[in-house]
Amino acid sequence: MTDITINTDNAQSVIHCGEGAFDKYAPALRERQLFIVTDTNVFSLYKDLIYQTFGKDVPVKVIPAGEASKNSRCLLNIISAMADAGIKRNGCVVALGGGVVGDIAGLCASLYMRGVHLVQIPTTLLSQVDSSVGGKTAVDFGKIKNLIGTFYQPEEVIVDPRFITTLSKRQIRCGLGEIIKHGALDKTVYSKLIKAEDLFDIGFLANIIPDNIRFKASVVTRDEREAGLRKILNLGHTTGHAFELYYGRRSHGEYVLIGMYYELFIAREMGICGGEYCDSLISLIKKVVKNIPGYDDIQSSALGAKYDKKNSSAKITIVVPHTEGQSRELLLDMDEYIELLTKCRDNL
Ligand code: GLY
Repeated sequence: MTDITINTDNAQSVIHCGEGAFDKYAPALRERQLFIVTDTNVFSLYKDLIYQTFGKDVPVKVIPAGEASKNSRCLLNIISAMADAGIKRNGCVVALGGGVVGDIAGLCASLYMRGVHLVQIPTTLLSQVDSSVGGKTAVDFGKIKNLIGTFYQPEEVIVDPRFITTLSKRQIRCGLGEIIKHGALDKTVYSKLIKAEDLFDIGFLANIIPDNIRFKASVVTRDEREAGLRKILNLGHTTGHAFELYYGRRSHGEYVLIGMYYELFIAREMGICGGEYCDSLISLIKKVVKNIPGYDDIQSSALGAKYDKKNSSAKITIVVPHTEGQSRELLLDMDEYIELLTKCRDNL
């Protein structure tokens, strides 16, 4: 079992990580006034476990599984259920589920009575290696992902690989998107990824989860509010989000990898990343997304990058790998960005 701590100006977040973490740390939560938020998929798998662990009378709000639940209506539904359950200021929201549950339940915890306690118990690979760690909470609004949100650190995160054994290959691919992104930023994660025989092997994934959390925690500790350093965690996301917004047929993690592929092409064209290192990152991406899509409408889909929250000017900001463990931020004019993406597409 590994404990990783994030200390920020206002909070401390402890991440318990490893086989058996749920059985070791979840039962103690019973002593608090709990409010569980989960989704229909997780509830159908773990209903018995929830009531055995947290008590048969624990209030549980089950939201529909999927990205479509990450909206302001669902947010207010949860808050209304918390009020109906009589949750007090010292109450504790437990987010049991994947990224959507973690983001929306975290936002509820930060808003309800100006903030109640929060514990994250991530059940997907993506939420275990990324979204449950670091205190970002949000819902989408209009066309913009994560427009309404807060930074609100969970007091505890309980990461147990038992939950990833039931995931579909699509969900594993989704988590691998963020793991490979971390590999492009961190030497430890990278060295394990390039040695892996099978990226989809559960034993391999259970072993690499703590390395991902350790890396992310080190970034968040230095820059909780994304004033600078934390922006590197958006590698692959500018272009990935733009394609996701326009085409939206694949999982988020796959779009991150597709975005990374197109952005690596840009980095190579601009002489920022090349040689064997760039090839090895491309080969990792292709182990997860075998055929990189050549989008027919680059012109329109690329416009989605304008909405990216990293842009502080009219230019498009992308983060690209440079050398092992090093990245660079690039600012591109929209025309130049579209031209490079089109060139990448035409080279597929
Ligand atoms: N997923 C990126 C971040 O937490 O900053």
